[in-house]
Amino acid sequence: PSTPYLRVTPSLLKKQTGRKGKDAWMALNGKVYNVTPYAKFHPGGVEELMKGAARDGTKLFGEIHPWVNYETMLAACLVGLLVEEPEAGS
Ligand code: HEM
Repeated sequence: PSTPYLRVTPSLLKKQTGRKGKDAWMALNGKVYNVTPYAKFHPGGVEELMKGAARDGTKLFGEIHPWVNYETMLAACLVGLLVEEPEAGS
C-alpha cells in the first residue's frame, strides 16, 4: 500500500517554526520533514538547523553539505509532500 503522505502547502509549512509549541518542519527536495527530534543531534547546532525551519531548506542545505544523506537520517521524520498553494476559489 502507498504511504498516506500529508500534503503540505507553503502556508502550512510557514507555521511550523519550532516555536509556540509547534514542531519545526523543513522542506527538502519536495518532501517535508519534522526536524525537531533531530535538532539536538545536528553537528552544526540547533540555531543553524533552524535557519531552514518553516520553509524550503533545499538550497541552503545544498550550499552547506550536499554530501549529507538527510533522506536516510530523517526517514522516520517524514511528514509529507510539499504541494503548491491551491488557487483561490478552487
Ligand atoms: C553540519 C548547517 C540542515 C546534517 C552542518 C554545519 C552547518 C550546518 C553550518 C557545519 C558544522 C561544522 O562543521 O562546524 C545546516 C543548515 C541547515 C542544515 C543551515 C538547514 C538548511 C541539516 C539537516 C541535516 C543535517 C536537515 C540532516 C538531517 C548535518 C550533518 C553535518 C552537518 C550530518 C556534519 C557534516 C560533516 O561534517 O560532514 N550543518 N544544516 N543538516 N549537518 Fe547541517
